[in-house]
Amino acid sequence: MEKDIHREILEKFPIIEEIQGSELKEKIIKAWARALKEGSFKNLEDIPFSVTIPEVNLVDHVKWVMEVALFIASLVEKGMGISVNRDLLIASVLLHDLGKAFEYQKKGNRYVKSDIGKKFMHGFWGTYIALEERVSKDLAHLIASHSKDSPEHPQLLEGIILHYADFAHADILRFQKGMQTFLSMKG
Ligand SMILES: [Fe+2]
Repeated sequence: MEKDIHREILEKFPIIEEIQGSELKEKIIKAWARALKEGSFKNLEDIPFSVTIPEVNLVDHVKWVMEVALFIASLVEKGMGISVNRDLLIASVLLHDLGKAFEYQKKGNRYVKSDIGKKFMHGFWGTYIALEERVSKDLAHLIASHSKDSPEHPQLLEGIILHYADFAHADILRFQKGMQTFLSMKG
């Protein structure tokens, strides 16, 4: 059972294999395994991006954000000569929406907020789960600060990259659906 969950996580997120730190790799797999065991969804592909955009699943969102984040990182490194912590960036993209596995639940044909989702922001709950798996403070900070509702802004370069990659996808999806974009809510 445990092995099946681990295999599913690695199949859905093969980029985990590119993480250099073996402990970090293990912590990410454990955090996601816990989300599948304790959260509202048995399979990764069942977790929606959000209750208002349920037709996009979270795995596809994470993969989209990963591709953009790594592209930005390579421009920052090669074009600007600034180094990016690739392990930290990959880990933060993989875990930033971990809390959504707990935040939503399916009710009939609809997705609604779960009891946890009504009480905690997904950035907060994802940080809590990740810290229980003993991730670094920097990684926990990136998970906690990625959400627009977070009281803290990212204090690390990897968090800036994560934010723009994440919100690019979110806003493109919202724009396409005729919803108000996060961009227009700023300031
Ligand atoms: Fe996200």
